[in-house]
Formats: sequence, structure tokens, C-alpha cells
Amino acid sequence: MTQEIAILSAKPETAAEIPPVRKVFVKTYGCQMNVYDSDRMTDALAKDGYVSTDVMEDADLVLLNTCHIREKAAEKVYSALGRLRDLKKKKAGEGREMMIGVAGCVAQAEGDEILRRAPAVDLVIGPQTYHRLPDALKRVRRGERVLETDYAIEDKFEHLPSPDKAKTRARGVTAFLTVQEGCDKFCTFCVVPYTRGSEVSRPVAQIMAEASKLVEAGVREITLLGQNVNAWHGVGADGAEWGLGELLHRLAEIDGLARLRYTTSHPRDMDATLIEAHRDLPQLMPYLHLPIQSGSDRILKAMNRRHTTAEYIALVERIKAARPDIAMSGDFIVGFPGETDEDFEDTMRLVETIGYAQAFSFKYSTRPGTPGADLDGQVPEDVKAKRLERLQDLLLSQQRAFAEACIGREIDLLLEKPGRMSGQLIGRSPWLQSVNVDAKASQIGDIIKVRITGAGPNSLFAETIS
Ligand code: 5AD
Ligand code: SF4
Repeated sequence: MTQEIAILSAKPETAAEIPPVRKVFVKTYGCQMNVYDSDRMTDALAKDGYVSTDVMEDADLVLLNTCHIREKAAEKVYSALGRLRDLKKKKAGEGREMMIGVAGCVAQAEGDEILRRAPAVDLVIGPQTYHRLPDALKRVRRGERVLETDYAIEDKFEHLPSPDKAKTRARGVTAFLTVQEGCDKFCTFCVVPYTRGSEVSRPVAQIMAEASKLVEAGVREITLLGQNVNAWHGVGADGAEWGLGELLHRLAEIDGLARLRYTTSHPRDMDATLIEAHRDLPQLMPYLHLPIQSGSDRILKAMNRRHTTAEYIALVERIKAARPDIAMSGDFIVGFPGETDEDFEDTMRLVETIGYAQAFSFKYSTRPGTPGADLDGQVPEDVKAKRLERLQDLLLSQQRAFAEACIGREIDLLLEKPGRMSGQLIGRSPWLQSVNVDAKASQIGDIIKVRITGAGPNSLFAETIS
């Protein structure tokens, strides 16, 4: 995803003060946290005289914000770097310099290897050191190839600029806010504990200040982000230890903040206060991404998920009791080492039992350095492919059934952005679906009542209720 265009508004008084205008092109791969991080990096670079461009060829700096979660994600980065090398050469021939930076989880995991494999890369910077980006670029300009992948001891959020008002406005009425980063769970398939480091929660005051700034800039819906967001904890204004439930209560008090969401959650960290928040807070949207990964207890154990399918089902029942209209979402991995046909059938049965409004499913991909990589019983690719196809068919049919069941319902719609057709806007339903409706651009940011009239493959259609 290409980042929004940022225009610097401060005008220097004299020619001597005019900083060189430099352009940055940021390409973001992977999860929502990378989207959030790309925005923070863009904001930090703006202080350094950089404006964003969505034309790669115009950029003085191209930053790839990378994802390492699955094999394909990392490979995409290396092929993009190949193309960038050619562009850099071409621009050098025209007398224009272009810097190439790699950020994100591939940078963290394979920093040295990137510098070795891709000589055109000038800078590698890991997610814990984004606040050092302007300084790292200065070093690049002095001729260094920079590798910044230490886990910084200082708090990067203290040093990164908080969201800029004008840019937030340009980015829209929904926003992400990272409240927690890293993971201590060590699921045996996952690189996150190694790329994002151990679990760190941002302090309450920092989160509240950032949320208020977003709302002042016109944001109506905030999604709290964390690799393990419901493991968030902090000391509240009352001096007591808070979990995510308490934090959501406090955020819901911000005037003008209409909607709250959070992602991604681990089943083991869904505590009672958080479940009750779903019952008590109308601002908390009835949609929950709660991955289980597999429906087989044997595989869950091998994955080190530290819960059973029965516990997961019971948990979902408690959540549904608290918020009956909640839509469930999840992640699944097929073909984890040792997964038999019977284990896979257990996953299919689990999906039938829960009924997902949306879900993401992946073939297991070996990640170097994770315990899963050394397990016996790696599943052949063709078996993984067949299982994935069956699982995705089932999940898609559930998603369609959920969308069809919405037809005729009257819902609150947050009008988000222009639609494909003029005179139309796209809004977001409480269950995170895109909904097309006739409305004026001036209504963006409003929450209106609509009736769902139809369901397409990727979005719904609605009419306004006067
Ligand atoms: N192989 C396949 N899928 C993976 N995920 C994480 N690691 C792997 C892996 N090694 C999936 C999980 C996780 C989601 C973000 O990506 O389902 O929840
Ligand atoms: Fe990865 Fe498991 Fe942590 Fe999620 S909980 S980030 S899957 S190690």
C-alpha cells in the first residue's frame, strides 16, 4: 500500500532557510501495524524535509516496510529490491541519486543478509529503531551503509512524532493506534517474537494523548493494534493495574470517538473485564479477530498455543453471551508439521461449530529460527494446497452466508471514503464490511442509518433510511 501524500505547510522565511525538498516513496507490506509504522516514519521524515510521493520514480528515498510472517512475503521484498536496483542505476545515469531503505520485520530478521544480497540497499532499519531514521539517513548521505536492528533501550514512541493533524485528516476518518508491540507467547510457527521482540505495552497517558489527537483531527473510529493486543496492560490514572478492558472504557469517554476496535487477540488473554467491555461499551464494535490456527488439540499443543479447542469454543460462547451480535474472525494454518487428515478434519469441524464472518487461512510456511522449522513430519505442498482449498471454500461460504444474513438489516454506517461511482460513498459496517450507499462527499465522517439491500462478493449495498 502506498502512503498518503504529505504536504509540508511550514514556509521558511528566507532562502537560506529553505530546506531541500526531498521525496519519499513508502511501500508497505503485511499487517496493519506496518501501515501504522509507515505513517509514523512518514511523519518523522516530514520533520526532515521529506514529502511523500506515490510515484516511485520521483523518489529520492524508497522505503520498503517489509513483512516476514510467511516465506512468500520475504521473497516479494527481494524481487522488489531487484527492480529498485535497476531504477537506482537508471537514475544515477541521469545524475539523480536515490536511496533505498528496508524497514520492517525482514529488516529485523535478515538485516545482514539484505546488505549482502542487495548491494543497492543503503539502509536497513528494524521496527524498534524507527525514531532513529532521520539520523540514519544522515549517515547514509555521508556515505555509510547503515544497519540499525538493535532493540533500542529508549522508547521509540517517546521519540517519534505523534500523528500530524493535517496528515491524519488526509488519511481519513478511521485510524490505527499501536498500544502494544511484540509477543512472549512463542507459538512454534511464528517469527513475531524474534522480529518484534518481547511484549511491550505503551503507557496509558501516551495512548490517551494520541487518541485525543486523532479525534481532534476528525477520526471517528480507532483500531487499537498489537501483535497480542489483549495482553496490553498498564498503570491507570487511578494507580491500579489496567488491562485492555479498562483502557477501552477510558477511550470510550473521549468525546467524538464513535467506534473502537482492537486486533489481534490471543484466546488466553481474553479476560472477564475485556469480555464485559463488549457487553457494556456501545462504542466497541461487535467484531472480534480471535485466531485459533487449528481445530486439533494435538496440533494446538505442537503449536504451543496453550489452550484446547473446547476452551476456545467455551470462550467464544461467553463472548457471544456478552455481545450476541458479535461477528467472529480468525486465522488458520493448514499443514503444520505432523498434521494428519484427521487433524485437518478437526479444523473443518471447528470452523463449522464457530461460524466465522471472516477468516484468513494460510499454508504453513517454515520460518528459519522458529521451533516449527525443526519438527519432523513436514507436510507435502500438494497436501497443504488441497487442505487450504477445502478450508477456504468453507470459510468463503460462511462469509457469504454472513453477508446474505445482513440483507434487510438496519445498521449504523460510518461513511468513510468516495465510492467507485460518483454520488456514492463507501462506509464501514459495525462488522467491518464495506458498504456502498448514495451519499455526498461532505458526509464523510458521519454515521448514518442505512438498510442493507444486497450483497456482492466483496461489499454490501445499502439505502439510506430517512
Ligand atoms: N506459516 C503460515 N502462517 C503463519 N502465520 C504466522 N506464522 C505463519 C507461518 N509460519 C499466520 C497465523 C497468524 C497470521 C498473522 O499469520 O495464522 O495468526
Ligand atoms: Fe505469533 Fe503466537 Fe505471538 Fe501471535 S501469539 S504473534 S501467532 S507467537
